Amino acid sequence: MGLALAFANVKSDREWQHWGSTDPFWAVSSWEGKRRSDPTPWTAEELRALGESDFGDVLGHWSHYGLRTERCVEIGCGAGRMTYPLAACFRSVVALDVSRDQLMTARHLVGERIGRVLLCLVDRPVVPLGDGSCTAMFSTHVFQHFSNYDGIERYLMETFRVLASGGTVCFHTPVPGAHKSVERPAPWMAIRNLKVSVQRAIGLYSVMEFHRYQPSRILGTLERIGFRDRELRIFAMSSNGDLHSFFFARKP
Ligand SMILES: C[S@@+](CC[C@H](N)C(=O)[O-])C[C@H]1O[C@@H](n2cnc3c(N)ncnc32)[C@H](O)[C@@H]1O
Repeated sequence: MGLALAFANVKSDREWQHWGSTDPFWAVSSWEGKRRSDPTPWTAEELRALGESDFGDVLGHWSHYGLRTERCVEIGCGAGRMTYPLAACFRSVVALDVSRDQLMTARHLVGERIGRVLLCLVDRPVVPLGDGSCTAMFSTHVFQHFSNYDGIERYLMETFRVLASGGTVCFHTPVPGAHKSVERPAPWMAIRNLKVSVQRAIGLYSVMEFHRYQPSRILGTLERIGFRDRELRIFAMSSNGDLHSFFFARKP
């Protein structure tokens, strides 16, 4: 399993490194008409505003669920779209990504809030922090792109290790019935993802892989790892009206 996982993640990482260097803003928010080559590509101001708006929607739920705002680890921070509002909410944020270019973009996007943010380059699903050193984990639009489920499980186990007692997770990954980009039938998704793997194997990085998982699978993983108060909340983002599925859980 170890070798297969390493192989799968390296493949996916290369694709994300490609996106981070060619079109970092579009790579994190792949909206129609917002590529670097389009007449009106994303600007840093627009991406910050989008992050503030989306995080505002999430924070309403996370606050209701209950969170401690000392130190948050963000998995897959990309261009810093969500790191920016996270840095206003938490005393400090440790933001991880596999793309060096995305981390450099995030440094600029986060701007004057950078004093509260530590950016970390990772090359596998490991959280490079000590046991019990964080009070929260956040991730959005990341796990759905992993080549296989093992990467998600591994990150959740790592999260459990680095969280202090009472620490919470809040992460997005699509489930059937939510998220327009993955509402296609399962066979269509499987064929598309196979095509992506083949293209990736020959060095074509023009597409992204998407996966969705049954809520029971993710909630079961959280339970097995030891999390309690496991919840799935599905709500629309004000920015685009699309339903997003966020999982919440707490370390005992
Ligand atoms: C679609 S972007 C989302 C970025 C950000 N979370 C947001 O919502 O704006 C996915 C990000 O996950 C990063 N990523 C992909 N695989 C990763 C991994 N195994 N560990 C950490 N980050 C990863 C990519 O480099 C990319 O920046």
